[in-house]
Amino acid sequence: MANLYDEAYQKSLKDPEAFWGEAAEDCFWYKKWDRVLDDSNTPFYRWFAGGETNTAYNALDYHVENGRGDQLALIFDSPVTDTIRKYTYTELRDEVARFAGVLKSQGVQKGDRVLIYMPMIPEAAIAMLGCARIGAIHSVVFGGFAAKELATRIEDAKPRLIVSASCGIEVKRVIKYKPLLDQAIELAESKPEKCVIYQRPMEIASMVDGRDLDWADVMAGAEPADCVPVAATDPLYILYTSGTTGQPKGVVRDNGGHMVALKWSMKAIYDVDVGDVYWAASDVGWVVGHSYIVYAPLLKGCTTIMFEGKPVGTPDAGVFWRVISEHGVRSMFTAPTAFRAIKREDPEGALIKNYDLSKFKILFLAGERSDPDTIQWSENHLKVPVIDHWWQTETGWAICANCMGLHHFPVRYGSPTKAVPGWDVQVVDAECNPVKAGEIGALVVKLPLPPGTLPTLWQNDERFIESYLAEFKGYYKTADAGYIDADGYVYVMSRTDDIINVAGHRLSTGAMEEVLSDHPDVAECAVLGVEDKLKGQVPVGFMVLKAGVTRENDEIVKEVVKMVRERIGPVAAFKTATVVNRLPKTRSGKILRGTIQKIADNKEYKVPATIDDPSILNEMADALAAIGLAKGRK
Ligand code: COA
Ligand code: AMP
Repeated sequence: MANLYDEAYQKSLKDPEAFWGEAAEDCFWYKKWDRVLDDSNTPFYRWFAGGETNTAYNALDYHVENGRGDQLALIFDSPVTDTIRKYTYTELRDEVARFAGVLKSQGVQKGDRVLIYMPMIPEAAIAMLGCARIGAIHSVVFGGFAAKELATRIEDAKPRLIVSASCGIEVKRVIKYKPLLDQAIELAESKPEKCVIYQRPMEIASMVDGRDLDWADVMAGAEPADCVPVAATDPLYILYTSGTTGQPKGVVRDNGGHMVALKWSMKAIYDVDVGDVYWAASDVGWVVGHSYIVYAPLLKGCTTIMFEGKPVGTPDAGVFWRVISEHGVRSMFTAPTAFRAIKREDPEGALIKNYDLSKFKILFLAGERSDPDTIQWSENHLKVPVIDHWWQTETGWAICANCMGLHHFPVRYGSPTKAVPGWDVQVVDAECNPVKAGEIGALVVKLPLPPGTLPTLWQNDERFIESYLAEFKGYYKTADAGYIDADGYVYVMSRTDDIINVAGHRLSTGAMEEVLSDHPDVAECAVLGVEDKLKGQVPVGFMVLKAGVTRENDEIVKEVVKMVRERIGPVAAFKTATVVNRLPKTRSGKILRGTIQKIADNKEYKVPATIDDPSILNEMADALAAIGLAKGRK
């Protein structure tokens, strides 16, 4: 007999309009949609065209008006400042309404962009929801990016206003955000009219007269603003993500489709209900933070946790278990790297025994491939199902998962299980022909994508088409390679572009190469992601110097490491580079990145038939061994 998953999956593909139309009934609409799926302008599909709604209303006011005003909406747990602050739905709604009033009083209107550069504090969520309330489009930038990256995003989004804080807190240091923001504004041609700065007690930022406003001051005198109806197809936010160049892609998210898909996903995928406590240990600067710290849990009427800390060192590897037990978390979501960090510090899971985890039911992992070791360690010590699921910034929610609210399939290690309802996932070869079960190819999704996915890139329809839709006609290219087995389990193996995944953070090696190339002594370079036990992958740079350069290699390496940190940010974790005499290339001049990577990872490799001079591979092996990466030549 078919299970709930099979039924939902079949229906979602056979009749997507009926499937998502039904899911949309669970949300509040000022005006119902004219069409569930508008396909009149392909490949630009639009969900719930003609409908009017408000995401912040659905996430907050709706619950208050339905008798859940006293339920906790958000718990801020910050071991780095020794703070726990709790907001009921009424309290959060009121704060958001006041911040929306601040935005309005500063001239922010529907459709204006507001850039948010904040650490993991509730004010970041309040600012996001405040924008949603008045139809302004937010763009959150992760705190670990450098001023130049921030400037690129300011330049592209052209925000009327920026919301920031005086500082963020990392394990060992206070990160001053304000000087980075000031520098970014200086670098960007497009300047915001105003900045609202949340001053934290550990660091008081200096303010620019006439431009900067203190969060506390403006909130104190603010008139609450009401929710504004917006079109379902209006943008809710822009989230920049690494592309294959230094120019990030501005992923756009709409209001209607996003709200429907995310609310539906909470029960279907995560098996949580209204009133449950849900925790995504990520950062609001990433898509996981947007979808599963802020929007989805609030849309569903759950209690969400905002955690300002790390899995280890704040203060120890038991902090996740402390948060789960103290707040009664039912379902948790984080990146495998966080569990690898815990496993490294507490291999026997001794700290777990200090906490009551009886309410904890499921652990979800995503952001990078879940290695079987990490899944098994977590299963053994936590005694709950550990669910890998696969998604991307572009998709906004899971493409493949074990949909725990529909049917719990047996876990196959290395697979995020099956395509989620709404997703027609296929594997094709370079000519877009389907491959046989078990054969590796490009993972693609047949159009239309389900609601909640990117309708386009910010003011760049061309790049949207070129990046995702042009290569495989009628399909969305995920840029991941993998295979589907005979039972429909999907295996995601690697990216097909230059994106790497460092501690669950998505980075472009192309962007790092652009920085290295800017060093005056570097003639050419390659940056690759090599395997790392903790972070999954880390970037490593290879540089060929210009003829006649006589400076010490070590000095140049130090300089490029500093340059990447200054231009992209500490999050790039670019700490290793080496000087080589030449780079292995094909006869047509293409650098053999895949082969270098295999040597670095100590994997078997074939000497490519097209290589210009095979002896260079031994030189590469030696260079890698010298920086502790490969065992040396074959
Ligand atoms: N603001 C400023 N700097 C930041 C930052 C932020 N929001 N987040 C990270 N950084 C800095 C770190 O301090 C570190 O700097 P350093 O080079 O001076 O040490 C650097 O960026 C790299 O950070 P990170 O990748 O987080 O490495 P880490 O060694 O500090 O911690 C883990 C490693 C595994 C504990 C950590 O990456 C982690 O908790 N990951 C969880 C996964 C996650 O949140 N994924 C998001 C998608 S689900
Ligand atoms: P991001 O946009 O930061 O979410 O990164 C998306 C990329 O991370 C995907 O294209 C994959 O390469 C990788 N990724 C995310 N989740 C998984 C997973 N569960 N298994 C394998 N790769 C994953």
